[in-house]
Amino acid sequence: MEVVLVTGSSGLIGSEVCTYFAEAGYSVHGIDNNQRASFFGPEGDTRWNQYRLQRNLSHFEHHELDVRNRQGVLDLIGRLRPAIIVHAAAQPSHDRAAAIPFDDFDTNAVGTLNMLEAARQACPDSPFIHLSTNKVYGDAPNKLRLTEFETRWDYADLEYAEGIPETFPIDQSLHSLFGASKVAADVMVQEYGRYFGMPTCCLRGGCLSGPNHSGVELHGFLSYLVKCNLEEREYWIYGYKGKQVRDNIHCRDVAHFIHEFAKNPLCGEVYNLGGGKANSCSILEAFVLVERFTGKRQRYTYVPDNRIGDHICYYSDLRKMRAHYPRWDITINLEQTIREIVDAWQRKLAL
Ligand SMILES: NC(=O)c1ccc[n+]([C@@H]2O[C@H](COP(=O)([O-])OP(=O)(O)OC[C@H]3O[C@@H](n4cnc5c(N)ncnc54)[C@H](O)[C@@H]3O)[C@@H](O)[C@H]2O)c1
Repeated sequence: MEVVLVTGSSGLIGSEVCTYFAEAGYSVHGIDNNQRASFFGPEGDTRWNQYRLQRNLSHFEHHELDVRNRQGVLDLIGRLRPAIIVHAAAQPSHDRAAAIPFDDFDTNAVGTLNMLEAARQACPDSPFIHLSTNKVYGDAPNKLRLTEFETRWDYADLEYAEGIPETFPIDQSLHSLFGASKVAADVMVQEYGRYFGMPTCCLRGGCLSGPNHSGVELHGFLSYLVKCNLEEREYWIYGYKGKQVRDNIHCRDVAHFIHEFAKNPLCGEVYNLGGGKANSCSILEAFVLVERFTGKRQRYTYVPDNRIGDHICYYSDLRKMRAHYPRWDITINLEQTIREIVDAWQRKLAL
């Protein structure tokens, strides 16, 4: 059985990738140390998801390892020599990073280097897929001309009618410390592809979503929003009139793309991975969609100051992904994604 190694295996993307590859007949090894609970407190705890994988997947092994532990990572990858590596462990929050700059950089940048170097030493021909972020573009998308509509912002220039392409500049803009640590990782992943010829890629995520996210205010847009709605809690909107736009992709479509890349990998590639314009929504629009499934009106408070560097309008141009991997496309639309998240929270909250 071929081995796939997934870091951040108890998180949203990691757990979906583990499930996807286990169902595809791989032996799956996951690395996670529940660091999300340290980053965000008990609501960020991902142990329940780890136990779910251990219960449900027949060929899954959990490794309680910190990706910052260089020797531990070298030893494990040296022993497993995985056929595919998916690196999804991270400090994932824009806003949280400023309070924990060393934890953020050590996890996102140094942790990624630990993984890359271990892979180069043990299995340099194995595809290495890194979960990057659209925050590598900093706030540069905010400098584009925008049109204001009743419930959302949109790009005014036809050049961006399909969204932000991978050629968009990544420097000379404001990133947040999180964006900067992810840029470091992103460029390093590209470099291991270009310099060492390894089959690596960076997936610059928009809003990645799904039912198994431990959504918290600082990370996990739709998951947290649905939870607030069901618990009849106030949702806080920061700036941009609540019309800021995110593109949402279901984690199963992310896992499918990872599989397609792993079957036909390229070296040092970069893809903007989101739901694209068709699956984008503003916060105000998300309220309406969620209300439709829960029947509960969303309470919210509006704060005029936006989060530092927050995107006003961002959706991914998916044309490069589709051109490189024509067997891949979005299969789960925004409504279905929200429906699954609502169902999952209703089950969890009932317990
Ligand atoms: N969810 C999104 O909307 C989104 C958007 C863009 C990019 N991304 C990127 O995708 C990746 C996965 O995101 P996610 O939403 O699944 O996050 P998540 O927080 O749900 O999962 C990450 C997992 O990594 C684990 N982890 C963190 N630090 C670790 C460490 N030092 N050692 C071992 N494990 C550690 C956490 O405990 C958690 O279970 C991240 O790189 C993130 O930056 C996510």
